Amino acid sequence: MQGELLYTGKTKQVFTTDNPDYIIIHYKDDALAYNGIKRAQIANKGVLNNKISAIIYQKLEKEGFKTHFIKQLNARDQLCKRKSQIIQLEFIVRNIAAGSMAKRLGLKIGTPFATPVFEITYKNDELSDPIINEHHAVALGLSTYEELAEIHDVVRRLNTTLQRIFAEIGVTLVDVKFEFGRTPDGTLVLADEISPDTTRLWDTKTMESLDRDRFRKDLGKISEAYEEILNRLSATNV
Ligand code: C5P
Repeated sequence: MQGELLYTGKTKQVFTTDNPDYIIIHYKDDALAYNGIKRAQIANKGVLNNKISAIIYQKLEKEGFKTHFIKQLNARDQLCKRKSQIIQLEFIVRNIAAGSMAKRLGLKIGTPFATPVFEITYKNDELSDPIINEHHAVALGLSTYEELAEIHDVVRRLNTTLQRIFAEIGVTLVDVKFEFGRTPDGTLVLADEISPDTTRLWDTKTMESLDRDRFRKDLGKISEAYEEILNRLSATNV
């Protein structure tokens, strides 16, 4: 049963439950881009992302990854494990040049990388989530070299697995962002959502964006694109 509101995030809310080890994550329709400079409501986005993320997490759990996900409860809510620690870092993997990396380094969007590119950003709204390296993360006391090595290994395997999951539905995983936490027993778990809000997903045939870039770049048909991802994933989830 849903308890108190613990936290209101940009696109989700977190509630306690009557089990202290569990939380409820509620998906809202808010869309944000460019560190919150651009904001809007996209009807039904929360419903779509809740379902998409639930399907992806179920697939990852089947593949043996440890995640915070327990089950989808209803259209906008999912039951997850409580994390006693959230690692204040975002781990980005890029398979193809796009977004902030393409801009920062003057790369042509769509250039594939020979090997995945790993980035770390510091989760800090005031600083607009700056890109940092592992030495910065350790110096800031946000992680340890041992933990970063463990996460790097998980992130590399997650990227390969997700590339395969999306390839099966005719979608190319351009890049993706992951977050991690630890449950009270110390287990490292994948946290937050994996959805078109946290990935770049291109239709492999047409190269059309089926993700948050539709909002960032005013391409229109945002919920239609998210729905397309959901429909294709649902077809593989029987
Ligand atoms: O904007 P940038 O190119 O750095 O984003 C890389 C990937 O990480 C994209 O898939 C983007 O949607 C995701 N991301 C995210 N949350 C952030 C920053 C980036 O999900 N705060």
